[in-house]
Amino acid sequence: MLADLVIHNATVVTGDTTFAGSVAVKDGKILAVGAKDIMPEASETLDATGLHLLPGAIDVHVHFRDPGYPHKEDWASGTAAAAFGGVTTVFEMPNTIPPTANAKILAEKHAIASSKAYVDYGLYGLLGEDTIDKVDELIETGVIGFKLYMGNTFGAIPSPTTGAMLEAFEVVAPTGKRISLHAETNSIMERRQSALTKAGRIDPLAHLAARPAVVAIEAVSRAAVLAEWTGARIHILHISSAAELRPLAEAKARGVDITGETCPHYIFLSADDYARLGGIIRVNPPVRERENQLPIWNALTSGLIDMIATDHAPHAPEEKTRNDIWMVDCGFPGVETQRPIMLTEVAAGHASICDYVRWSAVNPAKAWGLWPRKGVIEPGADADISLIDLGHRWRIDDAKLQSRSKITPWHGREVCGLPIHTIVRGKFAMRDRELVAATQGWGRSVHSIQQMPPPQPKNLDQTTAFILKAPKDAALR
Ligand code: NCD
Ligand code: ZN
Repeated sequence: MLADLVIHNATVVTGDTTFAGSVAVKDGKILAVGAKDIMPEASETLDATGLHLLPGAIDVHVHFRDPGYPHKEDWASGTAAAAFGGVTTVFEMPNTIPPTANAKILAEKHAIASSKAYVDYGLYGLLGEDTIDKVDELIETGVIGFKLYMGNTFGAIPSPTTGAMLEAFEVVAPTGKRISLHAETNSIMERRQSALTKAGRIDPLAHLAARPAVVAIEAVSRAAVLAEWTGARIHILHISSAAELRPLAEAKARGVDITGETCPHYIFLSADDYARLGGIIRVNPPVRERENQLPIWNALTSGLIDMIATDHAPHAPEEKTRNDIWMVDCGFPGVETQRPIMLTEVAAGHASICDYVRWSAVNPAKAWGLWPRKGVIEPGADADISLIDLGHRWRIDDAKLQSRSKITPWHGREVCGLPIHTIVRGKFAMRDRELVAATQGWGRSVHSIQQMPPPQPKNLDQTTAFILKAPKDAALR
C-alpha cells in the first residue's frame, strides 16, 4: 500500500515511552509506526533527524473571540497560533458575542470555524442560569462539553445560582458530557472588588486582593458536592492555588468523575511579577503568591492535576495597558507558547517528556472521549503530529506571534524547544515554521468522534424534573 507520507529518523514519544522510528500516514490516519525498513512506500517522505515526534497537543481551554471581537482574534489567527504551538486540537469557549447558548448560535460558530480553522476543534456550549433547557439542542448541534462560569470574567456572563447549577448538573449528568467550570465564587469577588474600588485601589495587586484563593476552594468544593450528588462529570479549569487541590483530591478519592487543568502562568508567574508586568498579568483566576507554584507543579507531576491547558485569552495591547486595573481586560494568549515553556522544564530535567505528553495530549483525549483516536501515535489514530526541536533555545517575542494579540507576560522569556512542523489529520498546518495556507478550513469539529463512557447519573428520583413529574404521594413516601 502506498502511504501519503512517511516520517523517518524521528524520536517518537508517547505517554509511556520514547523510541527511534518512522511513522507512516495515509488518508489522515497513522498507518504504521516502527523501523524504517518496514515502512511502506510513500508519495512523500520527511527526514526528521534531530526532531521529536509527539502527538499533537490538545488544548481544552482557548478563547478565539469569533464571532464578536475580530480585533482580538478570529478562527484563522487563533488556529494558526495553535499550529505554531504544536497544538492540533483546541476546545473553544462560549464567551463570544453572542454567547454560544443555543443551537442557532452554535451552528453559526460551527460554520465560521469549519471555514477558517487550521486545526481540529471542539466547541463548548454555555451552561447558564437560563440555558438549561438548551442542553439537548446544543448536544444535537455538536458540543464537546459545557462551560459554566461560577465567577464573572471577560464577557460578563452572569454566574448561575447554586440552585441553577444543581439543576444544570441534573440535566447534563444523563448525557455523559463533561462540564468545565470556571471555579471562582462570584459573590465573594464582587463584594471584595466593590470594597477595593471604594477604597481607591486601582493598582494591579488589587485584582489579586479581590480574588483570594478561598474563592477557588469554595467553588471547587461546591462543584464537587453537586457533581457527586448528580453523577455529572466535571472539569476544573485553570487551577491557580495550592489550597483548591484539597477539594480536588477529596473529590477524586470519593469517586467523583472530576479532572483538572492548570496553565503555565500559575506555575511560572507569581505575585512578584505584578510590578514588572502591570495589567498584562491580569487574568482570572489571578496569578497568585509564589508559594502556590510548587504545590501546583507537584500536583501535575503526581497526576492529581490531569492536564495542561492555556486559557488562551487574547486582547489588544491598549486593552491590557490601562492605568486602572479594573479597566484592563483579563487574560492573555498562550496556545502558541505552552509547549516551549513546558518543554523547557523537560530540558531542565524537572519532568520526563512522557509525563509532558500525558499532560498535553493523552489525558485531555481520555477525559473527553477522544482516546485512542487522538492523543496517541499508533496505527489507526488520527495523524495529529507535532515535530519539535527539543534543543532549540530561543526567546519568546510577542511581535512574532500568530495571535492577533501581540501582548503576553512571556515576552523576552528564554525557552528551550521549538515546534518545527505541525500535522493535522495528515496535512501540514505548519511546515518549517511557515503556515500552510492551503490547510485553512481543514480543521474539523471533533464532537462527532467523541465517545464518552456510559453516563452515571445519580439521585435520579431527586431531580427537579422527577419531583415535578412524580405523583404527590410518591414524593411523600
Ligand atoms: C478569559 C477571556 O478573556 O475570555 N479571561 C481570563 O482572564 N481567563 C475568560 C476566562 O477564561 O475566564
Ligand atoms: Zn475561565
